[in-house]
Amino acid sequence: MELKHKVSWVTGAAGGIGQSISEKLAQQGSHLVLSDINKEALNKLSEKLKTFDIDVLALPIDISDPQLVSEAKEKIKERFNKVDILVNNAGISPKGPNGAIPFKDITFEDWNRVIAINLNGAFLCSQASLEMMVEQGQGSIVNICSQASRTFSPVTSAHYAASKAGLLGLSRKLAGEYGPNGIRVNVVVPGRIDTPMTQSVDKELSRQAALRTPLRRIGQPDEVADAVVYLVSDRASYVNGAVLDVNGGSLMI
Ligand SMILES: NC(=O)c1ccc[n+]([C@@H]2O[C@H](COP(=O)([O-])OP(=O)(O)OC[C@H]3O[C@@H](n4cnc5c(N)ncnc54)[C@H](O)[C@@H]3O)[C@@H](O)[C@H]2O)c1
Repeated sequence: MELKHKVSWVTGAAGGIGQSISEKLAQQGSHLVLSDINKEALNKLSEKLKTFDIDVLALPIDISDPQLVSEAKEKIKERFNKVDILVNNAGISPKGPNGAIPFKDITFEDWNRVIAINLNGAFLCSQASLEMMVEQGQGSIVNICSQASRTFSPVTSAHYAASKAGLLGLSRKLAGEYGPNGIRVNVVVPGRIDTPMTQSVDKELSRQAALRTPLRRIGQPDEVADAVVYLVSDRASYVNGAVLDVNGGSLMI
Protein backbone atom coordinates (compact mmCIF):
# COMPACT_ATOMS: atom_id res chain seq x y z
CA MET A 1 0.00 0.00 0.00
CA GLU A 2 1.96 2.92 -1.37
CA LEU A 3 -0.05 5.70 0.23
CA LYS A 4 -0.57 4.44 3.76
CA HIS A 5 -0.86 7.27 6.31
CA LYS A 6 -1.24 9.87 3.54
CA VAL A 7 -4.24 12.22 3.40
CA SER A 8 -5.69 12.88 -0.06
CA TRP A 9 -8.26 15.54 -0.96
CA VAL A 10 -10.23 14.81 -4.12
CA THR A 11 -12.64 17.39 -5.56
CA GLY A 12 -15.54 16.34 -7.77
CA ALA A 13 -15.15 13.02 -5.95
CA ALA A 14 -18.68 11.81 -6.68
CA GLY A 15 -18.31 12.03 -10.47
CA GLY A 16 -17.12 9.36 -12.88
CA ILE A 17 -13.39 10.06 -12.77
CA GLY A 18 -13.50 11.35 -9.17
CA GLN A 19 -14.98 8.10 -7.83
CA SER A 20 -12.30 6.04 -9.56
CA ILE A 21 -9.51 8.27 -8.25
CA SER A 22 -10.92 8.13 -4.73
CA GLU A 23 -11.26 4.37 -4.80
CA LYS A 24 -7.74 3.80 -6.14
CA LEU A 25 -6.27 6.13 -3.51
CA ALA A 26 -8.21 4.21 -0.85
CA GLN A 27 -6.86 0.91 -2.22
CA GLN A 28 -3.37 2.32 -1.64
CA GLY A 29 -4.25 3.04 2.00
CA SER A 30 -4.69 6.82 1.81
CA HIS A 31 -7.15 8.56 4.10
CA LEU A 32 -9.57 10.67 2.09
CA VAL A 33 -11.18 14.08 2.06
CA LEU A 34 -13.94 13.94 -0.53
CA SER A 35 -15.63 17.08 -1.89
CA ASP A 36 -18.56 17.36 -4.27
CA ILE A 37 -21.77 19.35 -4.58
CA ASN A 38 -23.69 16.11 -5.11
CA LYS A 39 -24.25 15.33 -1.43
CA GLU A 40 -26.18 12.11 -1.92
CA ALA A 41 -23.62 10.53 -4.25
CA LEU A 42 -20.80 11.77 -2.02
CA ASN A 43 -22.26 10.15 1.10
CA LYS A 44 -22.81 6.89 -0.77
CA LEU A 45 -19.20 6.92 -1.97
CA SER A 46 -17.77 7.70 1.45
CA GLU A 47 -19.73 4.85 3.05
CA LYS A 48 -18.36 2.49 0.39
CA LEU A 49 -14.78 3.66 0.85
CA LYS A 50 -14.83 3.36 4.65
CA THR A 51 -14.68 -0.42 4.08
CA PHE A 52 -11.02 0.09 3.07
CA ASP A 53 -10.01 0.65 6.69
CA ILE A 54 -9.24 4.31 6.13
CA ASP A 55 -10.60 7.54 7.59
CA VAL A 56 -12.96 9.38 5.22
CA LEU A 57 -14.11 12.98 5.61
CA ALA A 58 -16.95 13.90 3.24
CA LEU A 59 -17.28 17.63 2.56
CA PRO A 60 -20.30 18.37 0.37
CA ILE A 61 -19.16 21.83 -0.72
CA ASP A 62 -19.16 24.01 -3.82
CA ILE A 63 -15.42 24.41 -4.35
CA SER A 64 -15.90 27.75 -6.11
CA ASP A 65 -17.04 29.35 -2.84
CA PRO A 66 -14.04 30.88 -0.97
CA GLN A 67 -15.82 30.77 2.39
CA LEU A 68 -16.71 27.08 2.06
CA VAL A 69 -13.19 26.15 0.97
CA SER A 70 -11.76 28.08 3.90
CA GLU A 71 -14.09 26.18 6.27
CA ALA A 72 -13.08 22.93 4.55
CA LYS A 73 -9.42 23.71 5.27
CA GLU A 74 -10.21 24.12 8.97
CA LYS A 75 -12.14 20.82 9.03
CA ILE A 76 -9.24 19.02 7.34
CA LYS A 77 -6.80 20.50 9.88
CA GLU A 78 -9.08 19.48 12.73
CA ARG A 79 -9.49 15.89 11.51
CA PHE A 80 -6.06 15.14 10.00
CA ASN A 81 -3.84 18.16 10.71
CA LYS A 82 -2.38 17.80 7.20
CA VAL A 83 -3.03 17.15 3.53
CA ASP A 84 -0.44 15.29 1.45
CA ILE A 85 -2.24 15.01 -1.87
CA LEU A 86 -4.74 17.24 -3.68
CA VAL A 87 -6.51 16.20 -6.87
CA ASN A 88 -8.29 19.14 -8.49
CA ASN A 89 -10.80 17.11 -10.47
CA ALA A 90 -14.16 18.91 -10.10
CA GLY A 91 -15.32 20.41 -13.36
CA ILE A 92 -18.28 21.20 -15.56
CA SER A 93 -18.49 21.24 -19.33
CA PRO A 94 -21.70 22.91 -20.49
CA LYS A 95 -22.98 21.70 -23.85
CA GLY A 96 -25.63 22.78 -26.31
CA PRO A 97 -28.04 20.48 -28.16
CA ASN A 98 -25.40 19.84 -30.85
CA GLY A 99 -22.38 19.57 -28.58
CA ALA A 100 -20.17 22.63 -28.16
CA ILE A 101 -22.01 25.91 -27.46
CA PRO A 102 -21.20 28.49 -30.17
CA PHE A 103 -19.02 31.25 -28.71
CA LYS A 104 -21.58 33.98 -29.51
CA ASP A 105 -24.20 32.16 -27.42
CA ILE A 106 -22.15 31.92 -24.23
CA THR A 107 -23.54 34.33 -21.68
CA PHE A 108 -21.20 36.20 -19.36
CA GLU A 109 -22.96 34.49 -16.45
CA ASP A 110 -22.22 31.03 -17.86
CA TRP A 111 -18.63 32.05 -18.67
CA ASN A 112 -18.12 33.12 -15.06
CA ARG A 113 -19.68 29.93 -13.68
CA VAL A 114 -17.35 27.68 -15.69
CA ILE A 115 -14.26 29.72 -14.75
CA ALA A 116 -15.43 29.78 -11.12
CA ILE A 117 -15.71 26.00 -10.83
CA ASN A 118 -12.98 24.73 -13.18
CA LEU A 119 -10.31 27.35 -12.44
CA ASN A 120 -11.15 29.37 -9.34
CA GLY A 121 -12.06 26.17 -7.47
CA ALA A 122 -8.61 24.74 -8.19
CA PHE A 123 -7.03 28.05 -7.13
CA LEU A 124 -8.89 28.01 -3.81
CA CYS A 125 -8.26 24.33 -2.99
CA SER A 126 -4.59 24.62 -4.02
CA GLN A 127 -4.05 27.67 -1.84
CA ALA A 128 -5.73 25.96 1.11
CA SER A 129 -3.67 22.78 0.65
CA LEU A 130 -0.35 24.44 -0.11
CA GLU A 131 -0.41 26.24 3.22
CA MET A 132 -0.42 22.82 4.95
CA MET A 133 1.97 21.21 2.44
CA VAL A 134 4.59 23.94 2.91
CA GLU A 135 4.47 23.38 6.68
CA GLN A 136 4.98 19.65 6.08
CA GLY A 137 7.79 20.24 3.57
CA GLN A 138 6.17 17.89 1.07
CA GLY A 139 3.03 17.36 -1.00
CA SER A 140 1.66 16.51 -4.39
CA ILE A 141 -1.04 18.15 -6.51
CA VAL A 142 -2.57 16.71 -9.66
CA ASN A 143 -4.80 18.88 -11.81
CA ILE A 144 -7.22 17.26 -14.22
CA CYS A 145 -7.10 19.31 -17.42
CA SER A 146 -8.48 18.52 -20.86
CA GLN A 147 -7.35 18.20 -24.43
CA ALA A 148 -9.34 21.41 -24.95
CA SER A 149 -6.57 23.19 -23.02
CA ARG A 150 -3.95 22.28 -25.62
CA THR A 151 -5.65 22.05 -28.98
CA PHE A 152 -8.92 22.83 -30.72
CA SER A 153 -11.68 20.57 -29.44
CA PRO A 154 -14.83 20.48 -31.59
CA VAL A 155 -16.91 18.97 -28.78
CA THR A 156 -16.27 21.45 -25.95
CA SER A 157 -17.15 25.13 -25.53
CA ALA A 158 -14.89 28.19 -25.27
CA HIS A 159 -15.38 28.80 -21.55
CA TYR A 160 -14.42 25.18 -20.82
CA ALA A 161 -11.31 25.41 -23.06
CA ALA A 162 -10.27 28.69 -21.44
CA SER A 163 -10.76 27.36 -17.91
CA LYS A 164 -8.69 24.24 -18.59
CA ALA A 165 -5.94 26.23 -20.36
CA GLY A 166 -5.87 28.45 -17.26
CA LEU A 167 -5.54 25.37 -15.07
CA LEU A 168 -2.61 24.14 -17.17
CA GLY A 169 -0.86 27.51 -16.74
CA LEU A 170 -1.58 27.52 -13.02
CA SER A 171 -0.13 24.00 -12.71
CA ARG A 172 3.16 24.98 -14.33
CA LYS A 173 3.47 28.11 -12.21
CA LEU A 174 2.87 26.13 -9.01
CA ALA A 175 5.28 23.36 -10.06
CA GLY A 176 8.01 25.99 -10.41
CA GLU A 177 7.14 28.03 -7.35
CA TYR A 178 6.67 25.16 -4.90
CA GLY A 179 9.23 22.66 -6.18
CA PRO A 180 11.81 24.11 -3.75
CA ASN A 181 9.37 23.25 -0.94
CA GLY A 182 9.34 19.57 -1.93
CA ILE A 183 5.90 19.90 -3.50
CA ARG A 184 5.23 18.42 -6.95
CA VAL A 185 2.44 19.67 -9.22
CA ASN A 186 1.47 17.68 -12.30
CA VAL A 187 -1.30 17.52 -14.86
CA VAL A 188 -3.35 14.65 -16.25
CA VAL A 189 -5.02 15.30 -19.58
CA PRO A 190 -7.74 12.76 -20.28
CA GLY A 191 -9.04 12.10 -23.75
CA ARG A 192 -12.70 11.22 -24.04
CA ILE A 193 -13.67 9.17 -20.98
CA ASP A 194 -16.86 7.24 -20.33
CA THR A 195 -18.44 9.21 -17.43
CA PRO A 196 -21.72 11.03 -16.71
CA MET A 197 -20.12 14.11 -18.35
CA THR A 198 -19.83 12.36 -21.73
CA GLN A 199 -22.87 10.10 -21.27
CA SER A 200 -25.10 13.17 -20.96
CA VAL A 201 -24.64 14.07 -24.64
CA ASP A 202 -25.34 12.30 -27.96
CA LYS A 203 -23.67 8.84 -27.95
CA GLU A 204 -22.55 9.53 -31.52
CA LEU A 205 -19.91 11.96 -30.18
CA SER A 206 -18.25 9.15 -28.23
CA ARG A 207 -18.49 6.79 -31.20
CA GLN A 208 -16.78 9.36 -33.44
CA ALA A 209 -14.12 10.01 -30.80
CA ALA A 210 -13.40 6.29 -30.63
CA LEU A 211 -12.96 6.15 -34.40
CA ARG A 212 -10.48 9.07 -34.28
CA THR A 213 -8.49 7.35 -31.51
CA PRO A 214 -5.70 4.90 -32.47
CA LEU A 215 -6.86 2.46 -29.76
CA ARG A 216 -10.37 2.68 -31.33
CA ARG A 217 -12.23 3.24 -28.09
CA ILE A 218 -12.86 5.92 -25.51
CA GLY A 219 -11.24 5.62 -22.08
CA GLN A 220 -12.50 4.35 -18.75
CA PRO A 221 -12.31 6.38 -15.50
CA ASP A 222 -9.98 3.80 -13.92
CA GLU A 223 -7.43 4.44 -16.65
CA VAL A 224 -7.28 8.12 -15.66
CA ALA A 225 -7.21 7.23 -11.97
CA ASP A 226 -4.19 4.95 -12.46
CA ALA A 227 -2.25 7.87 -13.94
CA VAL A 228 -3.17 10.05 -10.96
CA VAL A 229 -2.10 7.40 -8.44
CA TYR A 230 1.24 7.05 -10.22
CA LEU A 231 1.85 10.82 -10.18
CA VAL A 232 1.08 11.22 -6.47
CA SER A 233 3.15 8.19 -5.47
CA ASP A 234 6.87 8.08 -4.67
CA ARG A 235 7.40 6.27 -7.97
CA ALA A 236 6.98 9.73 -9.54
CA SER A 237 9.31 11.42 -7.05
CA TYR A 238 11.22 13.28 -9.82
CA VAL A 239 8.14 14.06 -11.93
CA ASN A 240 7.18 17.72 -11.54
CA GLY A 241 5.38 20.06 -13.95
CA ALA A 242 4.61 17.11 -16.23
CA VAL A 243 1.59 16.76 -18.49
CA LEU A 244 0.48 13.14 -18.74
CA ASP A 245 -1.90 12.34 -21.59
CA VAL A 246 -4.35 9.49 -21.05
CA ASN A 247 -6.07 9.43 -24.40
CA GLY A 248 -5.45 6.25 -26.37
CA GLY A 249 -3.27 8.26 -28.75
CA SER A 250 -5.96 10.70 -29.84
CA LEU A 251 -3.60 13.66 -29.30
CA MET A 252 0.15 13.33 -29.62
CA ILE A 253 2.07 16.53 -28.83
N1 LIG B 1 -15.09 12.69 -19.13
C1 LIG B 1 -14.24 13.19 -20.01
O1 LIG B 1 -14.24 12.80 -21.20
C2 LIG B 1 -13.22 14.21 -19.59
C3 LIG B 1 -12.22 14.54 -20.50
C4 LIG B 1 -11.26 15.49 -20.14
C5 LIG B 1 -11.31 16.07 -18.89
N2 LIG B 1 -12.30 15.71 -18.01
C6 LIG B 1 -12.29 16.38 -16.72
O2 LIG B 1 -12.28 15.38 -15.70
C7 LIG B 1 -12.91 15.91 -14.51
C8 LIG B 1 -13.95 14.92 -14.04
O3 LIG B 1 -14.94 14.79 -15.04
P1 LIG B 1 -15.98 13.57 -15.15
O4 LIG B 1 -15.96 13.14 -16.55
O5 LIG B 1 -15.74 12.62 -14.05
O6 LIG B 1 -17.32 14.39 -14.94
P2 LIG B 1 -18.53 14.17 -13.93
O7 LIG B 1 -19.57 15.11 -14.36
O8 LIG B 1 -18.86 12.71 -13.85
O9 LIG B 1 -17.90 14.59 -12.53
C9 LIG B 1 -17.67 15.92 -12.15
C10 LIG B 1 -18.00 16.04 -10.68
O10 LIG B 1 -17.71 17.38 -10.26
C11 LIG B 1 -18.73 17.77 -9.36
N3 LIG B 1 -18.82 19.23 -9.31
C12 LIG B 1 -19.31 20.06 -10.26
N4 LIG B 1 -19.29 21.33 -9.83
C13 LIG B 1 -18.76 21.30 -8.58
C14 LIG B 1 -18.50 22.30 -7.61
N5 LIG B 1 -18.79 23.59 -7.84
N6 LIG B 1 -17.97 21.92 -6.42
C15 LIG B 1 -17.70 20.61 -6.17
N7 LIG B 1 -17.94 19.62 -7.05
C16 LIG B 1 -18.47 19.97 -8.23
C17 LIG B 1 -19.99 17.15 -9.94
O11 LIG B 1 -21.05 17.09 -8.98
C18 LIG B 1 -19.49 15.79 -10.39
O12 LIG B 1 -19.64 14.82 -9.36
C19 LIG B 1 -13.48 17.27 -14.93
O13 LIG B 1 -12.63 18.29 -14.51
C20 LIG B 1 -13.52 17.20 -16.43
O14 LIG B 1 -13.44 18.47 -17.03
C21 LIG B 1 -13.24 14.80 -18.32
